Amino acid sequence: MNNPPVFGRRPLQLVPEPVEDVPPPRTGFSPSPPAASPATTNPNAVLSVLPETSIADLRTACMARLDANTVALMAPERLTGDVERLISEIATERRIQLNRREQRALATELVHDILGLGPLEPLLEDDTINDIMVNGPEKTFVERQGKVVLSHVKFRDAGHLASICQRIASSIGRRIDESSPMVDARLKDGSRVNIVFPPLALDGPYMSIRKFGRKPIDFAKLVEWKAMSAQVARILEIAGKGRLNIVISGGTGSGKTTLMNALSRMIDPGERVVTVEDAAELQFQQPHVVRLETRPISLEGRGEITQRDLVRNALRMRPDRIIIGEVRGAEAFDMLQAMNTGHDGSMSTIHANTTRDAVIRIENMVQMGNMGLPSRAIRTQIVGSIDLIIQVERHRDGGRRVTQVTEVCGMEGDVITLNDIFQFEVKGEGPDGKLFGTYKVSRMPAGFLTRLAYFGYDKAWRAALEEGDRF
Ligand SMILES: Nc1ncnc2c1ncn2[C@@H]1O[C@H](COP(=O)(O)OP(=O)(O)O)[C@@H](O)[C@H]1O
Ligand SMILES: [Mg+2]
Repeated sequence: MNNPPVFGRRPLQLVPEPVEDVPPPRTGFSPSPPAASPATTNPNAVLSVLPETSIADLRTACMARLDANTVALMAPERLTGDVERLISEIATERRIQLNRREQRALATELVHDILGLGPLEPLLEDDTINDIMVNGPEKTFVERQGKVVLSHVKFRDAGHLASICQRIASSIGRRIDESSPMVDARLKDGSRVNIVFPPLALDGPYMSIRKFGRKPIDFAKLVEWKAMSAQVARILEIAGKGRLNIVISGGTGSGKTTLMNALSRMIDPGERVVTVEDAAELQFQQPHVVRLETRPISLEGRGEITQRDLVRNALRMRPDRIIIGEVRGAEAFDMLQAMNTGHDGSMSTIHANTTRDAVIRIENMVQMGNMGLPSRAIRTQIVGSIDLIIQVERHRDGGRRVTQVTEVCGMEGDVITLNDIFQFEVKGEGPDGKLFGTYKVSRMPAGFLTRLAYFGYDKAWRAALEEGDRF
């Protein structure tokens, strides 16, 4: 037998997850056993007892009798009731045997198709699911508590899935088809969607949804989830309040944006914050936040507004802090400029594997956008701008953790010197498969202590570092 397919470094579970029988807890990431929830019923399971032709028949007949304009404006509960009655009527006419449960299931399915994203609706309603990955009409995977599993969701056929993709694209004024086969969009609730159509998607359409967390997450929650120790949380809180310039580094889905949202709570309500993002997902609680989002190039090849354009513009908007969702390119240079020119407390995230790697990536990005700039000059700029780099990682047990908190200290010759204030060390694996470990702490006095002193946070910083910590 072949080896099972792998996803990242851990084996992929190909067992369908019992989404409808044992729905998950609705409390986020708590490890408690799943509790029942009616929101995740799988209509396919109920309907599969009927011959496929009679269901298709009923579905078509029912759709034909509904007025698209009227139903689009109706409340889901009322529409489900009406559709259920209609189904029962048609079923009687055509002598199709349907019990109440089957009627209800078919009505729910139709309403999900009419008003929402069809079979994905139960997954969207389920708060314990972070990511939804549709690999063609037959296979939909979900990520729950860090684990990727196959769900029960199936689309009727590729056309059904394609029509849902088209609805998402048209809601943001884009189209998706063979000639324009990739789209990034956002759902009404803020969730991010990427769609790839055939012929690029070989078994597609493919759709990846990163759900928008409805409950903003703070440091207390992150400590509770063991994403960091209480000591690390305290240090990061002080770093945020003391307006250090911070870069959060990590892989895709490692929790960078979540940590940035938590850090943003340390921003004083009186500060003017300008955020720049490719796809808006930051959830800042302050009253004075100005949100900017890039614009992709139009089908005619015009009108593109890049992050770099927006960061430059942001500098003219009298910001106290500039927050860039994720630096990916030439705007790295403008970010450093912003950090260096009186916008202390600016933040960004970056895709990198270690804090050292993050520094190298920033240097490369600046280089790419500003050919001819000597690397020494770029490094000096990095040292003068960034105070702290925080590394987050998704570990093989599904847990997301802060693994490094690194100070950008200075230059030694041509090399940037870094100091790992905290370094997570894995010590072992518990019986539940969860990793455990400790933080190695460096108590070397940080170069930015004088800056922290200016805001009155130097003593708190020192005290927090001195504290012992059990984790
Ligand atoms: N410490 C954590 N513990 C559990 N889940 C987390 C944690 N941090 C983030 N998540 C979840 O992981 C998903 C990815 O997080 P996100 O911050 O968007 O990652 P990134 O920005 O690195 O791509 C989100 O659904 C988020 O709710
Ligand atoms: Mg992110």
